[in-house]
Amino acid sequence: FPVERIRNFSIIAHIDHGKSTLADRLLELTGAIATTDKNKQVLDKLQVERERGITVKAQTASLFYKYQGQTYLLNLIDTPGHVDFSYEVSRSISACQGVLLIVDANQGIQAQTVANFYLAFEAQLTIIPVINKIDLKNADPERVEKQIEKVFDIPTEECIRISAKLGTNVEQVLQEVVKRLPPPTFKKEDPFKALVFDSNFDHYRGVVANIALFGGYLSKGDRIISAYLGKSYEVNELVVYKQTLVVAGVTDFYPECACWHLSPGMYPMDQSDYSALRSAVEKLTLNDSSVTVQRDSSLALGAGWRLGFLGLLHMEVFNQRLEQEYNASVIVTAPTVPYKAILSSAKLIKHGKEEITIVNPAQFPDRSVVKEYLEPMVMGTIITPDDYIGKIMSICLNRRAVQKNMVYIDDHRVMMKYLFPLNEIVVDFYDLLKSMSSGYASFDYEDAGYQPAHVIKMDILLNGKPVEELTTIVHKDRAYSAGKAMCERLQDAIPRQMFEIAVQAAIGSKVIARETIKAYKKNVLAKCYGGDITRKMKLLKKQAEGKKKMRYIGTVQVPKDAFINVLKRK
Ligand code: GTP
Repeated sequence: FPVERIRNFSIIAHIDHGKSTLADRLLELTGAIATTDKNKQVLDKLQVERERGITVKAQTASLFYKYQGQTYLLNLIDTPGHVDFSYEVSRSISACQGVLLIVDANQGIQAQTVANFYLAFEAQLTIIPVINKIDLKNADPERVEKQIEKVFDIPTEECIRISAKLGTNVEQVLQEVVKRLPPPTFKKEDPFKALVFDSNFDHYRGVVANIALFGGYLSKGDRIISAYLGKSYEVNELVVYKQTLVVAGVTDFYPECACWHLSPGMYPMDQSDYSALRSAVEKLTLNDSSVTVQRDSSLALGAGWRLGFLGLLHMEVFNQRLEQEYNASVIVTAPTVPYKAILSSAKLIKHGKEEITIVNPAQFPDRSVVKEYLEPMVMGTIITPDDYIGKIMSICLNRRAVQKNMVYIDDHRVMMKYLFPLNEIVVDFYDLLKSMSSGYASFDYEDAGYQPAHVIKMDILLNGKPVEELTTIVHKDRAYSAGKAMCERLQDAIPRQMFEIAVQAAIGSKVIARETIKAYKKNVLAKCYGGDITRKMKLLKKQAEGKKKMRYIGTVQVPKDAFINVLKRK
């Protein structure tokens, strides 16, 4: 296909501003799919995406569009909007020359609109602002155009007003893509060079890598080398228009992203499932290279892994995909952010590193060998109607945040910048902000280095036995409240058993919080004395199945989902 008639673009936006809906319309208009209601969100393929109604994976589609008698090849990459998946956005962007920046005509610019704009701007891409949902009763495209001019310095005339839902002006979007975006700049004569911007595991074909060609050309049977790994691979199948090439039998084709924010341990429920789980984790990480994987083992949980995720939603989605796509049942331990310790002991310095990253709370180095602990910081951007400023300032203060900036982006919306300890926001800050602002405030963040912090290790005990899954690293000032909250949530999450259970939080040997779960005599067979044996068996079977999803800590049964649920602050 002639290069000058190729356009590679991506759709970026804040969550729910309508990327997937617009992508569907573009596919319909170019005849890639039929115009029926059944085709809603065709690019959201994963079960978790359909269930949660969000895009998790960036997806590609190739469209042919006729403009002024010429056919153009438009390669479209749909991207997720949630902050946890920004890695997918930056990967997509590096394969494009331009983006459609979608902004909801009612909500206006939100935190991820700003974050995504800068990703595209710094990559020097052509940005076409698209104001979506103009059919809404409260749509105010004029106000949004002014925001775009003020915040991004893009003239209001460059905005396209559309309704992706009704299809209004969507054709104009395609025309502007052809007119405003430059074609890719590769030359066939140049040496072969390409970027793998996505990869996944196909049960029939093996590893499928999506590549953007930056120079040269590629044929079936060619051998290509991964610049990152230095390994070579054979191209078994090549789908040119979709720019997809297939390399079979390879599991480590992807480069790793070293920017995780949360690291939980992951172990098979049953050690005999270890190799099946390993294969599932390998295949899934191939489809999501923002997850880092490291082998780990624990006395209590056996062999497993330490995984690195970008946020709690990312971690939950990965877990859900493991269960849904690979039928795997796993134990997930309390995640930690990447704290660092500067070691002081001469012995440790002699052994090499002076600074270590603490990936596993169980391996928290003791204060006696540490000169200083450091915690990761992030710069957060919050955009909100000004009615909520007071409330937001107070929750930020509560999360040990320091305000750095505050500007009005229009008459009654402000953009605030706060420096946060990552640990304070990574689990639930987004949800809290959303609920206290009735959904109006939005949030995004970027890494902002490390700062010294007084952190300590906190253990959770059930009848005196430590629960390794729940060991966490907490800030000194947070220990009491975090310990108390954790005990209370565990008290709710663990069902009563035949004996009393003491739930305790401890720093070293000092117990700092305690709750008690009272004993409860539960006899499942009491209901059916009289000897209906089949009914009795059924009940026993049901109880046994219930037990399968339990973990034993000493003699205490803990439901598997209790571990993730207790991490969420109320
Ligand atoms: P993520 O992929 O999760 O980031 O969301 P998204 O940006 O892809 O948004 P999506 O296309 O899923 O749309 C979010 C919601 O807005 C859906 O309920 C759509 O039906 C609705 N929506 C999208 N476009 C329009 C529009 O033009 N008008 C109206 N009224 N609703 C729209």
